[in-house]
Amino acid sequence: MCGIVGVVGNSKATEILLTGLEKLEYRGYDSAGIFVTNEAKEAHLTKSKGRIADLRAKISSKVEGTTGIGHTRWATHGVPSETNAHPHTAGEGRFVLVHNGVIENFEEIKAEYLTGVALVGETDTEIAVQLINHLATTKKLKAKAAFKEALNIIKGSYAFALVDQEEPDVVYVAKNKSPLLIGLGEGFNVICSDAMAMISETKQFVEIVDGEIVIVKADGITIENAQGETIEREAYEAQIDVADMEKGTYEHYMLKEVDEQPAVMRRLVKEYTNEQGELVVDSTITERLNMSDRVYIVACGTSWHAGWVGKQLIEQLAGVPVEVHVASEFAYNMPLISEKPFFIFISQSGETADSRQVLVKVNELGYDSMTMTNVAGSTLSREAIHTMLLHAGPEIAVASTKAYTAQIATLAILAKAAGMASAKVEAEQFDLVHELGLVAAGMERLVGEKDMISSLVKEKLSETRNAFYIGRGLDYFVSMEAALKLKEISYIQAEGFAAGELKHGTIALIEEGTPVIGVITEEETGAHTRGNLKEVESRGASTLVVSMEGLEREGDGIVLPKVHSLLTPLVSVVPIQLIAYYASLQRGLDVDKPRNLAKSVTVE
Ligand code: F6R
Repeated sequence: MCGIVGVVGNSKATEILLTGLEKLEYRGYDSAGIFVTNEAKEAHLTKSKGRIADLRAKISSKVEGTTGIGHTRWATHGVPSETNAHPHTAGEGRFVLVHNGVIENFEEIKAEYLTGVALVGETDTEIAVQLINHLATTKKLKAKAAFKEALNIIKGSYAFALVDQEEPDVVYVAKNKSPLLIGLGEGFNVICSDAMAMISETKQFVEIVDGEIVIVKADGITIENAQGETIEREAYEAQIDVADMEKGTYEHYMLKEVDEQPAVMRRLVKEYTNEQGELVVDSTITERLNMSDRVYIVACGTSWHAGWVGKQLIEQLAGVPVEVHVASEFAYNMPLISEKPFFIFISQSGETADSRQVLVKVNELGYDSMTMTNVAGSTLSREAIHTMLLHAGPEIAVASTKAYTAQIATLAILAKAAGMASAKVEAEQFDLVHELGLVAAGMERLVGEKDMISSLVKEKLSETRNAFYIGRGLDYFVSMEAALKLKEISYIQAEGFAAGELKHGTIALIEEGTPVIGVITEEETGAHTRGNLKEVESRGASTLVVSMEGLEREGDGIVLPKVHSLLTPLVSVVPIQLIAYYASLQRGLDVDKPRNLAKSVTVE
């Protein structure tokens, strides 16, 4: 949420910042701004409401500098506007600050230190930069000391990049809970919320730990801990392929990412098999899972939906009971924790603040934990004891697609490996490598049915304001994901329902023409779901059935290729993703960047 970039010592500072912000736009796209300066202190601050393209359009080619910082915003405090856009300044422009996160005690700071200071906007960031200026002027402190003292006062989550116009060749940065990295260039250095933003400048990155201050100059960086001691830290090479981040010939990242799913399935099989073609997962992970008396899956949104499928997989293949929890509720509705728990955090980004706050607690309590993430080196990956990577490649569209199917496939790999390690017959009889091959082939067939799906969407969803997805068992979990996908990018009010629950109240919402989409991949429950579809049809609903080969009936809209009964969500979700895509496209909406959302949710 919110993206930060910075650069020191490069005469192309403006372009580096703008390109970096374009790569970070998935983190927020309400407003944006950059500040650049140079040795001669020729400074330019440009801000704009809207997208990075709007900011770019405002910047004249004369705006150049060697040092700069930039920001793309997902509004927390204060409406999206040019005034509330970052960078924020204080001391008549002397201090310039960008911030990602939420300052919890901004009211107290304002009351205690900033009475009489005229604030121009409504952001907590403005309070932070004013505080730095206040400390620098009243205590006659240099920028670093004032910044450090401000960090001792500020409570909350933050990633900050600060420029003092009196020192135009340095950027000060610090973080707490929010992600921030330093990239090492040749004769210059960069700052970014995500390595993706600066991968075209460098592949060498250095992590920052909460509580440190980093002094970034053109010829090097100095990391200081809270005690002021200098810390040496090795750089690591970011494994990001620039080509993976491009849209290529696609109009939208989402469609590209939907199409990539068969390749992701095959890549996962490759990553998790040995030369003999056997599945291998780090044995400490499977041991810990098998030693536990209960697995707790904690996640948000789409990752939480994948967690429900994971529960079935782990219980059936490894025989360990599983609870699935929404991260943002876990702290308040903390369940009774069993004696030997094993926590699995599922997070595409590895940065989600809601999940992280649970992990922090889990670490305090000394429990064993694993993060399943798409981003190596992400916060959740660093802070959990174990990690399993999703190998899905960068997911850029805000609506998660390939990460969801990668999460389910990785959970299946984990469940199978844990079951094998504890000699469970169910795991031994499950040829997952072969089954994932069938899934990949099935996905390939489904992504080839775009025209048909687009026509169905035109017929069933073009006018509607609301829609329902229903299913039972795994089909219910997919229905929840289907509804979220439709809501977030087409703005159709959608609900994913356990098919049997509809008649216990929600059926009252069915009117003439209300779309109800049934997902049927299980023989056992299919007949009941068909019965529920008949019930809504007789009340005027316009139904559509997504059924699996072998269970299809005449008139079903979409027929799925047959795959193993534990893996059906991997194929049933594909047309559902495409339904959401075409519903959004046909309404003329911004598929990749839906309103009010951001890809990486780093505030609680
Ligand atoms: C929906 C979506 C979100 C994320 C959620 C968790 O398409 O992408 O619901 O799944 O914000 O994000 P991660 O997985 O990064 O923790």
